[in-house]
Amino acid sequence: MTAGAGRLPADGVRAMFDRIAPVYDAMNRLMTAGLDRRWRRITVEAAVRPGDRVLDGCCGTGDLAVAALRAGSGEVVGIDFSERMLERARRKSGDVKWVRGDLLTLPFEDASFDAATVGFGVRNLDDLELGLSELRRVLRPGGRLAILEITRPRGVLAPFYRLWFDVLIPAAGKVLPGGSAYTYLPRSVRRFPGPDDLAGLVRRAGFERVVYRLLAGGIVALHVGVAR
Ligand SMILES: C[S@@+](CC[C@H](N)C(=O)[O-])C[C@H]1O[C@@H](n2cnc3c(N)ncnc32)[C@H](O)[C@@H]1O
Repeated sequence: MTAGAGRLPADGVRAMFDRIAPVYDAMNRLMTAGLDRRWRRITVEAAVRPGDRVLDGCCGTGDLAVAALRAGSGEVVGIDFSERMLERARRKSGDVKWVRGDLLTLPFEDASFDAATVGFGVRNLDDLELGLSELRRVLRPGGRLAILEITRPRGVLAPFYRLWFDVLIPAAGKVLPGGSAYTYLPRSVRRFPGPDDLAGLVRRAGFERVVYRLLAGGIVALHVGVAR
């Protein structure tokens, strides 16, 4: 879930993830105190059924795709446009099909997947609505989409979150390789739609039964929808 773009063009986003690939997994574990594993498991449970053909969009270093495979998927395809992130993913599994490509122009046939997941990826897209409609296009009617993404909590946790997210993470980024990327993380979350608005966009992209649940006191949202 580590970095994201405040408003970087796609080439800048890709270059940023290429740079931070060596520390990406370690930063995730550190920043989430290991909770990211649990969130990925919940995401897979929400969308993936045994035997499904699954697409993991913005797969990065591959943890969500590997979790989908372990859950009994028939076939899992992970797609990402950062070659350095994919290099790490390939080391984790030779059974997932890793594809270098852009989520905004998915190189797959219409209705060719039963389920799609995206973990901490949609926030980085240049065109969120186009990304959602591409995901809808490659899912068969009745196929399930699960989107795991950072969000900003309201209520008692909000001040702690601001300290963690807006002060401590960018400070840690100053001493890590490729770490300036971490100053983009709070910016990208700030400009990203809240959970209700994201649910509306998912519906407009052609999904029904769209619901979301907040995890970890509201710092992460899991949206699920069914392709119409
Ligand atoms: C924060 S990482 C998330 C990685 C992984 N899904 C996870 O759960 O840890 C975001 C990933 O999205 C990828 N990405 C961003 N925009 C993309 C696009 N348009 N097409 C493909 N990948 C993209 C980046 O290269 C990066 O690997």
